[in-house]
Amino acid sequence: MVDLTSVPSPCFLLEEKLLRNNLELLHYVQKEAGVKIILALKGFAMYHTFDLVRQYLPGTTASSLNEARLGFEEFGGEVHAYSPAYLEREFDELMTYCGHITFNSINQYFHFKPRIEAFSKKISCGLRINPEYSPVKTDLYNPCVKGSRLGVTSKQLSDRLPEGIEGLHSHNLCESSAEALEETLQNIRVKFGKFLSQIQWLNLGGGHAITRKGYNIDLLIKTLKNFKNEYSHLEIILEPGSAVAWETGYLVATVLDIVENDGVLSAMLDVSFTCHMPDTLEMPYKPRIHGAFEPIEGLPTYKMGGLSCLAGDVMGDYSFPKPLQIGDKLIFDDMIHYTMVKTTNFNGVPLPYFAIRKESGELQIVREPRYEHFKDRL
Ligand SMILES: Cc1ncc(COP(=O)(O)O)c(C=O)c1O
Repeated sequence: MVDLTSVPSPCFLLEEKLLRNNLELLHYVQKEAGVKIILALKGFAMYHTFDLVRQYLPGTTASSLNEARLGFEEFGGEVHAYSPAYLEREFDELMTYCGHITFNSINQYFHFKPRIEAFSKKISCGLRINPEYSPVKTDLYNPCVKGSRLGVTSKQLSDRLPEGIEGLHSHNLCESSAEALEETLQNIRVKFGKFLSQIQWLNLGGGHAITRKGYNIDLLIKTLKNFKNEYSHLEIILEPGSAVAWETGYLVATVLDIVENDGVLSAMLDVSFTCHMPDTLEMPYKPRIHGAFEPIEGLPTYKMGGLSCLAGDVMGDYSFPKPLQIGDKLIFDDMIHYTMVKTTNFNGVPLPYFAIRKESGELQIVREPRYEHFKDRL
């Protein structure tokens, strides 16, 4: 049972103990496999937890200047960056935060190379590759669809990498298994094998569901170790986001009203799928609600209604053991990764509170909904 005492609504509630459990597992993988695991801020950037995360992971990876700055200022350690394209006006500042910068195209690399060479600090440059293999079935999350704009294919490269490239970066997974990583490495061997002696590091991106129950940790470690034995000069980096914050907390919501139309009951909530849980509509997937089931005839059954006016801001259907009442609290499970980082204020819908249940049991509210969050975006 989740303790909701003093938890405001709506609220993203992170359980510190669950985060530590994930970090311990990731740390174990780092140690056993001899790889480096850094946090992808695009998936989880609740910086109020970084004192804890930093005890286990050596750094962060950013997809933008904003994330690089957050990693540099709030996390410390190593800051890596990869963006599909870098902004002219931002690049000089980006270099001040990063030790590694990966480029999406050879063009972008050559464009920024003189600025990197003239910079006061050494920056290790990488190139994103497209291994032309992905197990991801949803195109929205598949970086290897035909004609993908993400990364260079082996056909675009000659026998030698552009001068100054020290690393390769491949991101082709999403909530994927150790078997999928094995397959990825096989594709990299076949398609990019001749370049591996020319580089110092290989970043295998994110999408490794390492902390999901049933993930084959032994296979992951074995696969990485075998690869390292083959290419002992290479530093191997993984940069998961989801796996760090996987099942570490909830979105707590309240039933504001119940409406009935054409025999359909809708529970009107103080949260929104489009504003607060956009992946549920984009993927799409149906989030778990504590104590609710897939529809069962004879049990009170409701569609969950989001707080925006978007007609499709709904999720359903869910059955409950007894009828819902206005004021009831609902707990959406596993709502920490790719939620807080993707929220919007569409319709002026406020952001939820952000809170952390510390291991001591103390509840720390780290963010409150404010008008300025909405206004600053306009
Ligand atoms: C380049 C890159 N690295 C890392 C990640 C993090 O992936 P995940 O959160 O699925 O582990 C992503 C996610 O899209 C990505 O695009």
